[in-house]
Amino acid sequence: MSKVKTTFFCQICGTQHSKWQGQCNSCKEWNTLSEEFIEKSEKKAWKSHQKINQVIKPLKINEIDTKQELRINSGDKELNRVLGGGIIPGSLILLGGEPGIGKSTLLLQIATHVNIKVLYVSGEESQSQIKIRSDRINNPSNNCYILSETKTQNIFSQIELLNPKLVIIDSIQTLHTNHIDSGPGSVSQIKECTSEFISFAKDSNIPVFLVGHITKDGQIAGPKILEHMVDVVLNFEGDRNHIYRILRSQKNRFGATSEIGIYEMQSKGLRAVSNPSELLISNKDGKLSGHAISATIEGVRPLMIEIQALVSSAVYGTPQRTSTGYNTKRLNMILAVLEKRAGFALASKDVFINITGGITIDDPAIDLAVIVSILSSYHDIEISDKYCFAAEVGLSGEIRPVNKIEQRIHEASKLGYEAIYVSKFSKIAKQNSPVKIIPISKVQDLITHFFG
Ligand code: TYD
Ligand code: MG
Repeated sequence: MSKVKTTFFCQICGTQHSKWQGQCNSCKEWNTLSEEFIEKSEKKAWKSHQKINQVIKPLKINEIDTKQELRINSGDKELNRVLGGGIIPGSLILLGGEPGIGKSTLLLQIATHVNIKVLYVSGEESQSQIKIRSDRINNPSNNCYILSETKTQNIFSQIELLNPKLVIIDSIQTLHTNHIDSGPGSVSQIKECTSEFISFAKDSNIPVFLVGHITKDGQIAGPKILEHMVDVVLNFEGDRNHIYRILRSQKNRFGATSEIGIYEMQSKGLRAVSNPSELLISNKDGKLSGHAISATIEGVRPLMIEIQALVSSAVYGTPQRTSTGYNTKRLNMILAVLEKRAGFALASKDVFINITGGITIDDPAIDLAVIVSILSSYHDIEISDKYCFAAEVGLSGEIRPVNKIEQRIHEASKLGYEAIYVSKFSKIAKQNSPVKIIPISKVQDLITHFFG
């Protein structure tokens, strides 16, 4: 009988330690090591491989047949786009996201929309609960099988019986394999179950979706190595209290990672949003100050978003700076720039910034719209919603150019904006679009332009 071997895994980064210690050697987190049983390997992997006669031989790169790699249409335009054109057979796709964001809903929708036989395995919900959800999203499908199971060996026997062409596992943290003794959700279980599904996907050429939970700091729970093992890592993000969700690819072995998919969570499930720019601008009744529209790019998609600012007198000694969807450090920087370069006494003011739609934007091009909305609220002068802004602001108050400026201008003209404010230093090829391009070089110029 082989001796039961235990080892200590860091529950954050997955690093293995031979004995217990308070701090992980690799990620330096405290109290994250926990003891797990691992199977003692009887033979060396290299020796065992040498015994096999039918080893896969190396091929010349231009002799490799790629016919097999035809992509499967997932039945969801946004997902196809994010994956780079569809699902590659034999690929392993990890879908991460916060609880309640809609991962199970998205995958159930895929399972019932795609035109092939699908096995949807849930370790979290019973068959009838899933049926209730599928009735809600109103998708009768003859080709979707539901299994409530957590043991990988049982899942594989069902797969053998059913012979599906796509497998969905919800979620990897609920699975456990007989080969490892530690509990579901532990680092060694997650690693082992994932590698079992990788071998399955590669051997059978059947694609597998894995749902992965997210820890409180936004990482996919389990070892970081999980993300290295799979072919594609998708993140489903958004604010649970808002209706918009963004599907983003963080890693894709078969396509670019710059595409995003945008969905709207409705009472009947997720609906793809094909024209997000129109939806993210709030409807206003009458003229209001403190609003400015920014022409941003998310991945490769142009997106018009609205920035709202509120500047009010600070009640307490330390003024508050709060932002939703925009980096607070950047907000502080922008306020400092306004204070120093334009002489605004914002130190005695509370400043609140909000991006409508509950989405978070990292694109530096929204700086200009943030400044304009702050000033608009400060002076209580409204900015026409026919104007949009796309430029970064530097520490000395200079307006700096941003990437893909032509795409932003194109989107602005497509949506009927009258003017787009850009950096004077942007390199723009001659445009004959109806939108007026207004170059700005300094924050001071912007202030004179709008607030005289
Ligand atoms: P779910 O897919 O269960 O999230 P996850 O698997 O990521 O934890 O989504 C749950 C949320 O979505 C829940 O709060 C209710 C909402 N929802 C709708 O608004 N409409 C729907 O049709 C469905 C199925 C869910
Ligand atoms: Mg779920």
